[in-house]
Amino acid sequence: MTSTDDRNPADLLEIVRDSVSAYCAAAHDFGFDPDAPVVRLHEPTFGAEEINAALECMLTTHVTMGRKVKAFEREFADLFGWRHGVMNNSGSSANLLAIAGLANPAARDGLKPGDEVIVPALSWSTTVWPLIQLGLVPVIVDIDPLTLNIDPAQIERAIGPKTRGVMIVPVYGNPCDMDAITDLCRRHGLILIEDCCEALGAYYDGKPLGGFGRVGTFSFYYSHHMTTLEGGICVTDDFELAELYRILRAHGWVREVEDQQVWYDRYPHIDKRFLFVNVGYNLRPTELQGAMGSVQLPKLAGFVDTRRANAAWFARDLSRFGEFFDFQQETPKGRHSWFGFPITVRDEAPFAVTDLTASLNRAGIETRPIICGNIALQPALKDWPHRVVGDLRNGTRVMTNAFSFGNHQAIGEQARSYVTDRIGAFMRDRGLA
Ligand SMILES: Cc1ncc(COP(=O)(O)O)c(C=O)c1O
Repeated sequence: MTSTDDRNPADLLEIVRDSVSAYCAAAHDFGFDPDAPVVRLHEPTFGAEEINAALECMLTTHVTMGRKVKAFEREFADLFGWRHGVMNNSGSSANLLAIAGLANPAARDGLKPGDEVIVPALSWSTTVWPLIQLGLVPVIVDIDPLTLNIDPAQIERAIGPKTRGVMIVPVYGNPCDMDAITDLCRRHGLILIEDCCEALGAYYDGKPLGGFGRVGTFSFYYSHHMTTLEGGICVTDDFELAELYRILRAHGWVREVEDQQVWYDRYPHIDKRFLFVNVGYNLRPTELQGAMGSVQLPKLAGFVDTRRANAAWFARDLSRFGEFFDFQQETPKGRHSWFGFPITVRDEAPFAVTDLTASLNRAGIETRPIICGNIALQPALKDWPHRVVGDLRNGTRVMTNAFSFGNHQAIGEQARSYVTDRIGAFMRDRGLA
């Protein structure tokens, strides 16, 4: 078949790129419109550049995981100073892979079926589910009511003879008390896993979250600090563990490991391309996700700066209602990356949190609960082995009394003033302001 168009692919690609840029300039406007006010929980962090990067993969038909994913893994790990990054298709997959690696018989000093792993009451579902799916027992402990993070004293209290690990969640990007947590993990010989899926861009004592334990995980879901649409990554400084993650990520074969020769030498009689050395999954990202990640990554710091500036402004402006609200406190030594802006309504406030959120929702301001609320109260856990330590009252209080509204890169002065004005109006209607 001969082509009727004699323009070459490079020229056509330029036309596609220009058209995409023109489309985005004409169609995308995520700014605040005072005449039709809407403040969403998130707005896209990506535009023409990312769409073009993804489209180029489609146009060249280089769509399955390849050199762009590898390049992104390297850039991501280098930016934060980790040795290895293993990208996969979601933050949930990153958690699954993180735990599957540690619980694999091939892992050095790993986890065994029946071992307990301590998790905070304020966890995401797929923080906890992989533990159960891999035969481990989650032990749920309470959070600190002000940072909303796992309380180190509760971890200490929960440690029993079967406890082998701690999986922490820096809630909304607020770093946990890493001095206390790394110290207790060292003293008790516990494996530390950091679920940083909502904490990209956060630091503790100048060090990026994700590198304090054996493995850290991140999510690049659409609504997160930066996106590859869906996507996630496991980071670790442990070469053997990273190699195991590369094996488990794709079928259990060795195609993507860095040191392939060691496997080829061991099994010279099996076709190298179809050499399966472990029981793996398919959690691979596409090449489009790697390409988008490389375009998003340099923008991350700016996105986080905007979130931090907004959070400081919200806290300042809403302090006039401090008798009714608790605001999330940034952990000492921590640099919070503010996934959203959470507020806990005090028990003594003369209104219910649902009255306030309904009023905000009517005004076009989206709200949501904090993570899953107290995960121990979710019905999913009832048929699975787990242990609850204490009454989890702080986690439950967040579930019943807290909510958040959007705090992201597209929120500027007008949008944030609109949010706090609407909260002010709600208070005035009740004679509280
Ligand atoms: C703490 C935490 N862990 C895991 C995840 C799962 O990430 P994903 O949506 O990319 O699967 C999320 C999602 O928001 C999360 O907040």
